[in-house]
Amino acid sequence: MLGNTKVTVIGGGHVGESCTFILAVKDLVNEVVMIDIKENMPQGKALDMMQAGPIMGYDTRVTGSNDFASMQGSDIVIMTAGFPRKPGMTREDLIGQNAPIMKSVAEQIKEYAPDSIVIVVSNPLDAMTYMCKKITGFPDHRIIGQAGVLDSTRFMAFLGMETGVSIKNITGMTLGSHGDDMVPLSRFSLVGGRPTQEVVEKDKLDAIISRTKKGGGEIVKLMGTSAYWAPAAGTILMAESILLDKKMILPCHARLNGEYGIEGLFVGVPVQLG
Ligand code: 2OP
Repeated sequence: MLGNTKVTVIGGGHVGESCTFILAVKDLVNEVVMIDIKENMPQGKALDMMQAGPIMGYDTRVTGSNDFASMQGSDIVIMTAGFPRKPGMTREDLIGQNAPIMKSVAEQIKEYAPDSIVIVVSNPLDAMTYMCKKITGFPDHRIIGQAGVLDSTRFMAFLGMETGVSIKNITGMTLGSHGDDMVPLSRFSLVGGRPTQEVVEKDKLDAIISRTKKGGGEIVKLMGTSAYWAPAAGTILMAESILLDKKMILPCHARLNGEYGIEGLFVGVPVQLG
């Protein structure tokens, strides 16, 4: 994307601020706006990130706002707002709290950034992407959910930890729902170019797959709240592929219209992002 590029991050919590910071550090866009309803908080965080710029070497202009109109002119809107999980909760348990937030944010996106591409991160992801599509009415290719990149990077990280092989030699693919019944595809995940089954013993691979499926919950149990570094890194990888038109094939939630026999739902599938 050439010219004055702008990304808006909705939500100034852990995921939102991590997305904003990673985006700034990558120096990919001219402007990132972080919007949160909490007065002064996004402004303070943005100012802090502006002051890290001279050391980190980025020119990205980071601003904070409490006004949804600030998203005007955005090429991409990243939706992170909503409550995180607490220990013992499933992602689906968040629907009552997060659906009203998604509804009101989607209405604002429709009004202020009608030409943007929306990356949804808020949970429960399967439902939130669907809701965002329903409320904005944006074409299918402009609503994408972030989950598969996160679930796949967890799979890859665990494979790296088990084998001791550089993560640069590991690829991984996890598809389906962003829940404990997600599908890590061991046959399509490679260590040094070889399918994982050929490299990792079956019981160890089964344990890695099971750990990947419950990877979000493991962190919630440790920290008392949801993960944010890996979710943010995954989100910005998606944004980067779009902004630089890299055409990376990444596992993302996309609306299916008969593909894989599924009609009208958002599910994690391989998506080419440009
Ligand atoms: C996770 O899996 C927050 O859903 C996210 O960590």
